[in-house]
Amino acid sequence: KKVVLAYSGGVDTSVCIPYLKQEWGVEEVITLAADLGQGDELEPIRQKALDSGAAVSLVENMQETFIRDYAFPAIQANALYENRYPLSTSLARPLIAKALVEAAAKYGADAVAHGCTGKGNDQVRFDVSIAALNPDLKVLTPAREWGMSREETIAYGEQFGIPTPVKKSSPYSIDLNLLGRSVEAGPLEDPWTEALEEVYAMTKAIADTPDTPEYLEITFEQGIPVAVNGKTYGPVELFEYLNPIVGGHGIGRLDMVENRLVGIKSREIYEAPAILMLIQAHRDLESLTLAKDVSHYKRGIEETYANLVYDGQWYSPLKTALDAFIQDTQKYVNGTVRVKLFKGTATVVGRKSADSLYTEDLATYGSSDAFDHKAAEGFIYVWGLPTRVWAQKRRG
Ligand code: ARG
Ligand code: SIN
Repeated sequence: KKVVLAYSGGVDTSVCIPYLKQEWGVEEVITLAADLGQGDELEPIRQKALDSGAAVSLVENMQETFIRDYAFPAIQANALYENRYPLSTSLARPLIAKALVEAAAKYGADAVAHGCTGKGNDQVRFDVSIAALNPDLKVLTPAREWGMSREETIAYGEQFGIPTPVKKSSPYSIDLNLLGRSVEAGPLEDPWTEALEEVYAMTKAIADTPDTPEYLEITFEQGIPVAVNGKTYGPVELFEYLNPIVGGHGIGRLDMVENRLVGIKSREIYEAPAILMLIQAHRDLESLTLAKDVSHYKRGIEETYANLVYDGQWYSPLKTALDAFIQDTQKYVNGTVRVKLFKGTATVVGRKSADSLYTEDLATYGSSDAFDHKAAEGFIYVWGLPTRVWAQKRRG
């Protein structure tokens, strides 16, 4: 039996390697580490998988695909789970699932595996995405089934030469990629306890941010951010460039209690500076370029879309259908948004577009006014008729 395992280099996924072989009789474990811009050194991770007993250790740079095919559509959808969380962790899972399924086909594996626990969203995202891409592929989930505590996991790994984490490991559970950092556990488990400054890495505390504002002009083409201050950036470059600038002004922190798909509420600290600012700018450009009814209707679609992404339905038929709607709305979402960064807040202070629906002659209160004021009277008579009739009836 041959298995492709999603690998991060951490204790849990490392222990999965000997566990699959010893306990479940897997003959060959192929590990797959996804480089999503988490900034880890990849060669030690590749080597660690081999030292832990992997037959083949794959490391794939998926940053470009991650931004282009997963983050950009989410920006076009203004996707924020529970109105706040930009899905920085959630978006990575369907991509990793796809890479697992592709590697399984390439190496002729009988199954794929991941190291998620049974309490989180991530297990759902992996399992459902894998099923959507190859319904016949078996998914092995050792960490969901082994029932070992953290200490027991480490002790089990030591038997097979997996090194104990050297430094007193951090009390936090951290997930990191180009879009952001998600931090939970440890002292954060008490939702009343303020997060210590040590929790943050991509954003500065307000006390340490510049005393002068900084302006960014973000240019979008069909709803996709393509340039900053007139300079074009590729998808990965864009995030590498924007994260430190936006985070440097203390922008992009979230402290929230969210509802997981499995019914648990969890307290999570997020840092996602660039994507939060880009969604804000994108939404503003839509206010200029989308027709009123499309814009209002899209709000409902956006919420459903965010829920689907959070809940592991990236490859579902409903998500695919919503993609078609969203893509169609983005044809004329072209233009530039001017954003002011200052002391923890990004504020849109200007926007312009060749496809703008904003009509100064209609909006103005000045002498160039082109709006037909007399037309308003008849419109209001008809518009208010049902309410007028209702009121007359009530008056008796
Ligand atoms: N709750 C978030 C999500 O489901 C992030 C979880 C990331 N993991 C972590 N160890 N913080 O998308
Ligand atoms: C996990 O348990 O896999 C991390 C948390 C989550 O998925 O929500």
